[in-house]
Amino acid sequence: MKAVPIGLGVALPKKCLQNADLPHELNTSDEWIIQRTGIRQRYLAEGEETTASLATEAARKALADARVSPQDVDLIIVGTVTGDYTFPSTASMVQKNLGVTRGVAFDVSAACSGFVFALDIADFYIRQQRANTALVIGAETFSRILDWTDRTTSILFGDGAGALLLRAQDETNRGVDFCRIYSDGRFSEYLMTTGGISTTGNAGFVVMSGREVFRFAIEKFCEALNELLAANDMKINDVDLLVPHQANIRIIHKLIEISGIDEKKVVINVDKYANTSAASIPLALNDAREAFFSGGNTVLLSMGAGFTWGSALIRL
Ligand code: UT7
Repeated sequence: MKAVPIGLGVALPKKCLQNADLPHELNTSDEWIIQRTGIRQRYLAEGEETTASLATEAARKALADARVSPQDVDLIIVGTVTGDYTFPSTASMVQKNLGVTRGVAFDVSAACSGFVFALDIADFYIRQQRANTALVIGAETFSRILDWTDRTTSILFGDGAGALLLRAQDETNRGVDFCRIYSDGRFSEYLMTTGGISTTGNAGFVVMSGREVFRFAIEKFCEALNELLAANDMKINDVDLLVPHQANIRIIHKLIEISGIDEKKVVINVDKYANTSAASIPLALNDAREAFFSGGNTVLLSMGAGFTWGSALIRL
């Protein structure tokens, strides 16, 4: 049994903030941000827009894309670290919003690797025949855990959501072929929040040792890509579409340089959305949806707080 992607949907908040419109007190510039990160703008949730509302919109679009009824869904996994409530899970909120009353829904906490972690788990459930129709969602509202006086973090992130609908199919070569997820808690302090429910009693703000995260991201992207290629008897030229987590254009350029992949095969959209954490990979997949659904080997690469990292190979 294999997990085959049959629908994809995304959602963005209405408000789009250009670099030039960031608060003056941050003492930053459009030029610095573009040169050092590639980011030009980001979408920010306002008012009633939340992680669950964005996730629900993305899920509805994925279902409509595949012409599948919400009643068919029996697994919902949301990768997020910015859920609406401490509990219930954001996945439970999505389940309620969609009117789904069966199966199971839960969140996965792996920061920017959340989507790949969720995909790996959904793939496992489908292979084990424990689920038939799964929504794998990455959704975040990082703007709500940013310190808007800290120019080293606040300029980097944006909000959004993306959902991939998977269906179990027998006797097919298509679908999720390979997934690996990893973490190494020794590096947890390099990228974290200043608080949490059991420590400060509030969510805290994002703090990051940018240079260490930068170095680690390149190292783990390359390691994960090499492992995936070797395990599937592939060369870099066999990859038709590469979708790395979108944190910094310089990290992606380094990955292109080291791996030798044709850069036309690599999705880059960090300029439009900034770093949307778990939403970044499905947003990027959607920007390349024609190439993704038209067939070939798509590789996903993630890296995030924890540290966490992972890879996936999807053949369509
Ligand atoms: O999604 C999880 C993964 N996250 C990431 O992958 C993020 C990885 N890290 C990065 O993307 C980069 O390290 C940053 C974009 C965060 C920082 O870029 P950098 O080239 O590593 O800059 P830096 O931290 O070494 O800072 C260089 C200078 C410093 O000034 P001095 O000390 O040289 O005078 C900073 O104070 O740039 C200054 N700076 C800024 N200047 C204007 C830092 N942030 C800003 C800013 N505007 N927003």
